[in-house]
Amino acid sequence: MEHLKKYGGYALITGASAGIGREFARLLAAAGVDCFLVARREARLQELQQELESKHQVRVKYAAVDLAAEDAIAQVQAAAAGDTIGILINNAGFGDGGEFQTRAPERMEEMIRLNCLAPVLLSRAFMPAMIERKRGAMIMVSSALGIAPCPFEAVYGATKAFDLSFGGALWGELEGTGVDVTTICPALTETEFMVSEGFTESQAKQAYRRSDSAELIARITLEGLGKQPFVYAKDSKKMAMARRVMPLPGVTRMVRGFMKRAKTARREAEAAG
Ligand SMILES: NC(=O)c1ccc[n+]([C@@H]2O[C@H](COP(=O)([O-])OP(=O)(O)OC[C@H]3O[C@@H](n4cnc5c(N)ncnc54)[C@H](OP(=O)(O)O)[C@@H]3O)[C@@H](O)[C@H]2O)c1
Repeated sequence: MEHLKKYGGYALITGASAGIGREFARLLAAAGVDCFLVARREARLQELQQELESKHQVRVKYAAVDLAAEDAIAQVQAAAAGDTIGILINNAGFGDGGEFQTRAPERMEEMIRLNCLAPVLLSRAFMPAMIERKRGAMIMVSSALGIAPCPFEAVYGATKAFDLSFGGALWGELEGTGVDVTTICPALTETEFMVSEGFTESQAKQAYRRSDSAELIARITLEGLGKQPFVYAKDSKKMAMARRVMPLPGVTRMVRGFMKRAKTARREAEAAG
């Protein structure tokens, strides 16, 4: 993926300690791009730094930051002061499925801060320099669940619809400026996502039998960067098609059908403690 080097500087990847973010870092480092890793778990970031530096001739830095915190963006900016950020990957995120009225308000706020506010403010912080240099890139990680309203993941789905709209809008503003923007809509992908949502390891394993790998999602996104404003995983394409051909209430009922099954699994997980 030679084209990734043209942006210069570091690729700043949020949520690099696991899942899709870690695979973005591995692929970028393999392509010769310096990486700046951001997430909360410092030991994981340190481990990945060592892995990437020992396998590839790249520089790797990290900052352990809670991106849902008030001063998160200032912390990231301070850690990256003096570095050129050529690629910004807004990937960190989590979900909290279940009936809306049962979910904790604090968790909703944290989710909106992490999934929506952090990408907006990081983009605002790092994109002006890219525009000035006339080269740079931003990747926005949305979801299949952001394509249509999502009963039983109402807030998460809304954050991902926000990400899809935000990434698409920036692509529209920046087309032709030398700053490339691509938004990815992964469908179910094997990562730590389901366990962080409260499912048990065995439930996650069962669900992930038919899922995409994190490496595949990171790869198709990086391959599409600079060529495609939107990249869809296979099942996301089906969702986008349904959204185009069905009236909104119909597609919402369809999503409700398969989210109901996930809701039942979550109830069982919570009951099991
Ligand atoms: N997996 C799927 O099925 C799927 C499908 C569609 C879209 N997505 C999207 O893909 C993105 C990556 O998720 P994933 O599936 O790779 O999940 P994951 O394996 O759980 O990874 C989530 C990453 O986000 C980081 N993170 C979580 N809370 C954070 C916080 N407060 N501050 C900083 N970093 C934080 C985590 O690191 P720390 O815990 O170390 O902070 C971790 O590196 C998310 O935006 C998600 O919405 C996932």
